[in-house]
Amino acid sequence: MRELITRAAARLQATRRAVALTGAGISIASGIPPFRGPGGLWEKYDPMEIASLDALLSDPARVWKVLVKDLKAVIERARPNAGHLGLARLEALGILQTVITQNIDGLHQRAGNTDVIEFHGTFAWQRCMGCGARIETQRVDDSVLPPRCACGGILRPDAVFFGEMIPCDALLRAREAAERCEVMLVVGTSAVVQPAASLPGIARQRGAAVIEINPEPTPLTGVVSDFLIPAGADQVLPLLLAELESRR
Ligand code: APR
Repeated sequence: MRELITRAAARLQATRRAVALTGAGISIASGIPPFRGPGGLWEKYDPMEIASLDALLSDPARVWKVLVKDLKAVIERARPNAGHLGLARLEALGILQTVITQNIDGLHQRAGNTDVIEFHGTFAWQRCMGCGARIETQRVDDSVLPPRCACGGILRPDAVFFGEMIPCDALLRAREAAERCEVMLVVGTSAVVQPAASLPGIARQRGAAVIEINPEPTPLTGVVSDFLIPAGADQVLPLLLAELESRR
């Protein structure tokens, strides 16, 4: 591991155009469950039944009852962990430019990163399926499900459900960031959901170094990524920052 940390630090020290692509794994240490693997939400529920556009339209009360209400409580309690704070420090050092996140928990912004592309939308806001009005999630009264807008329409998270398109601006900005970066850190994602999972390949095609931080290998490992640091982000990022700071 030491050698891998040193290798990653050397690559990061030499660039001012690093980008991070993050997934649910970086937020596990903040108490937010992942989707796949041990404790994953999709180990318990079928995502097509509670996290798809069809489910939202056919039975919004069930989507709120099974998925959204618990997620709301967990995210409200969550705080950025050492993994998020490490990426924010990389931005403060002028090394990391952008975080492309698949997460909807807002923890990168709260950690201090200022350019965060929310590729799968955000949980911080709810949107009325009737009139389109947006309301902050923390202001939504979820004592009656599904919660409704003042117009009577049903509220839904401003996040991307299965069967929905990635927000156009997020897609374009993320693709551009992947094309322009010199290093891409791929942190805490199983890299199985498209189109997010294609971004590391785009970066590599343009000559960037792709470094994975994940306790487990993914479909990118040994194919797209230069190397995998096989440990949690909350452990690796502090070691990486300590190595970089020791070189300053
Ligand atoms: N640090 C880094 N990675 C970790 C850690 C950790 N401490 N613990 C687990 N992991 C890794 C797991 O090995 C796994 O590869 O995090 C990854 C989590 O994978 P997923 O749960 O599939 O999360 P993600 O890749 O973000 O899912 C992508 O799928 O359901 C959709 O919209 C949802 O955005 C989500 C998308």
